[in-house]
Amino acid sequence: MAMKTVSPKETLTIATHFVLPENTNTLGNLMGGQLLNWLDIASAISAHRLCKRVVVTAAVNNVSFQHPIKLGDIVIIEAKVSRSFATSMEVFMDIYVEHHTTGEKIKCNEAIYTFVAVDQMGSPIHVPELLPETKEEKLRFEGALRRRQLRLILAGKMKPEEASELKALFA
Ligand SMILES: CC(C)(COP(=O)(O)OP(=O)(O)OC[C@H]1O[C@@H](n2cnc3c(N)ncnc32)[C@H](O)[C@@H]1OP(=O)(O)O)[C@@H](O)C(=O)NCCC(=O)NCCS
Repeated sequence: MAMKTVSPKETLTIATHFVLPENTNTLGNLMGGQLLNWLDIASAISAHRLCKRVVVTAAVNNVSFQHPIKLGDIVIIEAKVSRSFATSMEVFMDIYVEHHTTGEKIKCNEAIYTFVAVDQMGSPIHVPELLPETKEEKLRFEGALRRRQLRLILAGKMKPEEASELKALFA
């Protein structure tokens, strides 16, 4: 029986965190590892909302720390699945910081994590198809195939000549 398709908005997960003293370094900036943890949880919930199964983090991709996030700031993570494959899902996150005195909300980072749905034995299982709707969702959906091929090459799981989307890079 065919699985039902899922729209990205059904996977939307918004996580909001106060940056507390235990989350910061001695300069009062949010520790990178703390942000990675918050990203892991938000994106895992998003992937879970697509497949309703146990998901494991297969890869952390493309996280950059462009602006320091300060003690007392509010961090908002918006996660949505950008594409699903056979058993894996790419989750795209936009990260915003709400300034603790001005309330100004600025986008400070983007991040991409990859999850795999597994059964009780930890073996990968099939996930539903994602059908993008908005212009941005369609762009991220298209780019996901290229990013998947790149990360599988880097993980030694795909030969460069098999990467249909990256022919120009490996010609
Ligand atoms: C992720 C995991 C389930 C993949 O299992 P595997 O036996 O290597 O499975 P396969 O090679 O058959 O690949 C299964 C899927 O994982 C994807 N995958 C495997 N390695 C990957 C990587 N490095 N990056 C992105 N995706 C990857 C494959 O593309 C495949 O996806 P698809 O079915 O959509 O094409 C397995 O490696 C695992 O359990 N890892 C530990 C996960 C974990 O504990 N995470 C928390 C770390 S603290």
